[in-house]
Amino acid sequence: MALINDNFSKLAAGYLFPEIGRRVSAFTADNPSADVIRLGIGDVTEPLPPACIAALHKAVDEMAVRETFRGYGPEQGYEFLRDAIVEHAYRSRGVDVSADEVFVSDGSKCDSGNILDIFGADNKVAVMDPVYPVYVDTNVMAGRTGGADSSGRYSGLVYVPVTAENDFVPQPSEEPVDLIYLCYPNNPTGTVATRETLQTWIDYARSNDAIIFYDAAYEAYITDPNIPHSIYEIEGARDVAIEFRSFSKNAGFTGIRCAFTVIPRELTGKTASGEDQPIHPLWNRRHCTKFNGVSYPIQRAAEAVFSTEGQQQVSELIAFYLTNAKLIREGLQAAGITVYGGVNAPYVWLQTPGGTGSWDFFDQLLAKGHLVGTPGGGFGAAGEGYFRLSAFNSRENIEQAVERFQKVVA
Ligand code: MLT
Repeated sequence: MALINDNFSKLAAGYLFPEIGRRVSAFTADNPSADVIRLGIGDVTEPLPPACIAALHKAVDEMAVRETFRGYGPEQGYEFLRDAIVEHAYRSRGVDVSADEVFVSDGSKCDSGNILDIFGADNKVAVMDPVYPVYVDTNVMAGRTGGADSSGRYSGLVYVPVTAENDFVPQPSEEPVDLIYLCYPNNPTGTVATRETLQTWIDYARSNDAIIFYDAAYEAYITDPNIPHSIYEIEGARDVAIEFRSFSKNAGFTGIRCAFTVIPRELTGKTASGEDQPIHPLWNRRHCTKFNGVSYPIQRAAEAVFSTEGQQQVSELIAFYLTNAKLIREGLQAAGITVYGGVNAPYVWLQTPGGTGSWDFFDQLLAKGHLVGTPGGGFGAAGEGYFRLSAFNSRENIEQAVERFQKVVA
């Protein structure tokens, strides 16, 4: 008898973005001529930077020749990429990370889910609310929760509200926790964490033997020089934090997949008998067993992100999307909507007009404006009454979208 993993039956709803896709498909099936603009899922629209394209072509040509052909690479990533990451993402900001602490992978979404393999089932987990749904759903799948209540909250998880009421600054809860997910710049709210906020969480983790999973997939969007790009810019973080970084949102690699995770050598967890166990060898063991590395051409493309031309091209992409975010922010504000985020992040988080339910607002925008966003409630109970618009689209579509939004809420 083949028993299934019953934890899957606890999952309250389909994964958010497929659910949105399902509703949009139903709408377009009924309205085939509707020109729908999608500002839902945070997927890039602009082509890859030319420096990455050139590196890809060159690497593919190498694969065509016996002398330069490569089969399996090192599971953790090629040295050329790990060195480039350390130099440009960390040392240039005065942060101490060594190349052997960097694990190259095919995505931060995958890594933030897979990391749970190496942590015990009895850990108490804290997530922010609203939250990137992957953190919650992967814990449900791993059996670290009970069922969901009517608001979609799972028993066993600790939800830390992050809303306008607390200025989007989460505080550690009274209830002790062992694993903490933080995502900055934040998905979905587009807000950022100051050094002080991060220091509070690091101090908490240090005094409670907790570990922080820090998702910095959107760090390239930080425009404020006082906001840290990496959690390791904050004192004490190396002892308590794992950082996830991605090439998806800076260089537009969502379709070709490359990311990395940093596990400092000092970071330890506890064995069942209470001894300190370094996390690095556990993740290395997991990574080498279940993953065969990112393909050589993609790693060469990722390396090119750090070249002089690559950096210039990436900063143009970021500036483009941030201008989109600004247009959304200003267009919505002009329509009397309260907005957050969108300054150091590609997401604008808005309060639904008149407190409309977020899925109702989704349906309204789709039906009347042929516009797709993401309902705040899809990110957690505390996201109810909010809505997310992504700045990832062409300028023309963003301008159109703002006009349509204004008409719908007029
Ligand atoms: C989102 O739209 O929240 C994210 O882009 C999805 C992802 O990166 O996995």
